[in-house]
Amino acid sequence: MKQILKAADIESAVKEAKNQHLEIGLVPTMGALHEGHLSLIERALKENDLVVVSLFVNPIQFNNKEDLEKYPRTIEKDLELVKSLELRVKSDSKAKELLAFTPTVEEMYPQGEPKEVYHFGPVEEVMEGPRRPGHFSGVAVVVRRLFDLAQPTRAYFGEKDYQQIAVIRNLLEQIKYPIELVPCPIVRADDGLALSSRNMRLSPAARAIAPTINATLEQASEMAEYEEVDDVKEWVLDTLSSFHKVNPSLCPNGLKFEPEYFEIVDAITLQPIASWADAEKNGAVGCITVWLDGVRLIDIVKF
Ligand code: PAJ
Repeated sequence: MKQILKAADIESAVKEAKNQHLEIGLVPTMGALHEGHLSLIERALKENDLVVVSLFVNPIQFNNKEDLEKYPRTIEKDLELVKSLELRVKSDSKAKELLAFTPTVEEMYPQGEPKEVYHFGPVEEVMEGPRRPGHFSGVAVVVRRLFDLAQPTRAYFGEKDYQQIAVIRNLLEQIKYPIELVPCPIVRADDGLALSSRNMRLSPAARAIAPTINATLEQASEMAEYEEVDDVKEWVLDTLSSFHKVNPSLCPNGLKFEPEYFEIVDAITLQPIASWADAEKNGAVGCITVWLDGVRLIDIVKF
């Protein structure tokens, strides 16, 4: 692994790789790495000759200043994790080189705050879109910049941020770059909680009940075999909202789940479905955002 601070150094490494017709894998991250991120990097190492991992907390995708300030920054530890992953998977890795790109904000945005704004139509008009104005445009700006620098053959994104994948798919259609988008499955803790850098902000009591989110979604996917879409949706929201009443001993000091939304949508268009038949072509996905202990957690289930 080589740490790279300058965009120009990524460009020259990429130029050299392109001259040799090498395949390049890109894994964009904001650092604070955990096994979820590492699974993306591992896959990229197996499938490409050169891998670029970016670690950059992108200020323009945060619509909340406090969230940006609180975002964990653990760059030294992250680089150690990437190095040990590289060693661990060396024998079945195709890649000869791994570049960890850790630019400053000024390096990423030398002209100051970017002015460009992206629109994605229906895929951003649901779920996270209206709740985080400007978020997906900010993601697209940084991802496009990374695409321009790394010119990847493949780009790896996690299905935990399901809507982000749909947005990037749409971005690729708009800019017509020949990049293969590789969606990767969610990595979970042993108890089922989707790994997230936000999990470390949960109190022990909150962490103990947080796997209920995944457990409820798993049960919902079984219910889907005999219940209507609206009934499954209602059951998920009720089960989580009433958890503290049913399990008061697990919920000290007013601890409770506060679902922000749970939508069952077409897996590609992300439009809410009214009946299971509506998602016959692409499949259905349930996407949830839940507040717990002041932390905003997201998860998905495929039906
Ligand atoms: P970040 O939240 O750091 O996530 C980087 C990538 O890791 C994303 O594609 C995300 O979906 C994936 N990921 C996170 N947790 C995961 C898990 N438990 N299992 C599998 N994959 C997981 O998403 C972003 O950063 C940013 O928006 C970014 C795309 C880097 C643009 O700034």
